[in-house]
Order: sequence, then structure tokens, then C-alpha cells
Amino acid sequence: MKKVIVANWKMHPASEREAIALARAGDRENIVIAPPFPFLHVVRKTLKRAMLGAQDVFFENPKQGGAYTSAVSADMLKNAGVKWVVVGHSERRTLGETDAMINEKIKTALKVGLTVLLCVGENRNVRKKGLRAAERFVKKQLERDLRGIEKHSTKKVLIAYEPIWAIGTGKAEKVEETTAMIRFIKKTLYPKPYSFFPKVLYGGSVDERNIKAVLRSSADGVLVGGSSINERIFKTLLQNANRA
Ligand code: PGA
Repeated sequence: MKKVIVANWKMHPASEREAIALARAGDRENIVIAPPFPFLHVVRKTLKRAMLGAQDVFFENPKQGGAYTSAVSADMLKNAGVKWVVVGHSERRTLGETDAMINEKIKTALKVGLTVLLCVGENRNVRKKGLRAAERFVKKQLERDLRGIEKHSTKKVLIAYEPIWAIGTGKAEKVEETTAMIRFIKKTLYPKPYSFFPKVLYGGSVDERNIKAVLRSSADGVLVGGSSINERIFKTLLQNANRA
């Protein structure tokens, strides 16, 4: 697999028209577009080459549906044409999502055949204590979030390392530090409990200026937020990614 670029639009854009324009800008091979739920359908219709992603999935998936106001199940996503799902984003964790919930979400998504992008990463306070403290923090997240996952098709689980202090700040982590953490994550997962070498993406202020350097590093791809919600910037970012 070539390096993958996952566009996490978060709560953007406001209109269907803008969603279509953005989807057209990102419609290339090895790209995953994760729009908000109301635009899944229209983005699916627009995409010819890129894959459709979702930003979250509910942890229950009863066959008959259920009384879970606002929740979106793995079956619903699958039937809407979604191939990838982002799980455990720090912005969801901040709103109260626990590792136990994330673990269930991953299992539910894998059961219906979705590819999961699990987000992990430490906050600024942890990072201030140094790389070792950050590694311990991330290791705990991985252990809790991936508990029991090895029974499923783990090839369908990718990790996004997203240091919280680098998200949406315009200050991406230094490539050497990213590389160190990515190496650590791979070592934590392989050869046990995973039986294959996991793909680890980097996310946190990836933009049209630093994309080449990040893609030339050991990261297997990137998770892009802010730079994927402006048509012009998104296009430039993808052009620069091609030159990496
Ligand atoms: P950012 O967001 O690119 O705006 O920093 C990345 C993310 O939160 O996935």
C-alpha cells in the first residue's frame, strides 16, 4: 500500500455544495475522505478514486437498530458505502469517550469489515515530561483500546499518532520526534500482539508546507484536519504530497 492521506473534515463544511467541491479536490488514489455524517451520501456519489471514511461509529450494533439517539452504527456506515472509520480521536476522548468505548467501537467496526484508524497521542503536560513519558502514555492507550483485537482481522487496524498539542495549532511535531514515536508504536504492536507490521500515520498540523517532509519520514501516511477543509489548500497539499 502506498502512503495514505486521510482527510478528517471534523465539523466542516456547512453546506452540501461545499462538501462536493472539497470531495472533488481530494478525489485521488490513496486518499480517504471523512466528512460529517450528513454529507456521507453526497461525498460517496462524488468520489471516483478516493475512499469514503466516517469520523466515528457507535459501539453497539444491534441487528434491529436500537434506542440510541444520535448514534450511527457500523451497519449504517457500511451500507452508506463507508470503508474506513476514525476511532478514538482526541476531540472525542475530550468529550468523554473512554478506552473501553473505543475498544468496543473498534471491534464493532471490524466485525462489519470496516478499516479502522485508531487515534492515539499524548497531551502537552505529558509531553513536557519527555519522550519516555509520552511513550508510556501512548502504550497504555494502545493496550486498552486494542484489547482482544488480535482475534479480529488486525490488518484492518491502522494507528494515527496525533500528539494533542500539535493538533490545529499550526505547529507540527518535529519529524525526528514523530519518527521516534512511530518506531515505538510499531515495536509495541509487533510481533506481539499483532502478527504483522502495523501502519502508523502521523496527524497534527500537517499542511501544504510540511506534507513532503512528513511523507518522506517513517510515517505510513497522514491524518489531515484543517488543511483538508479549504479547497485551494487541500489541492496544494495533495500536489505537494505527490512530489514527496
Ligand atoms: P489538524 O487536525 O490537521 O487540523 O491539526 C488533525 C486531526 O485532528 O486529525
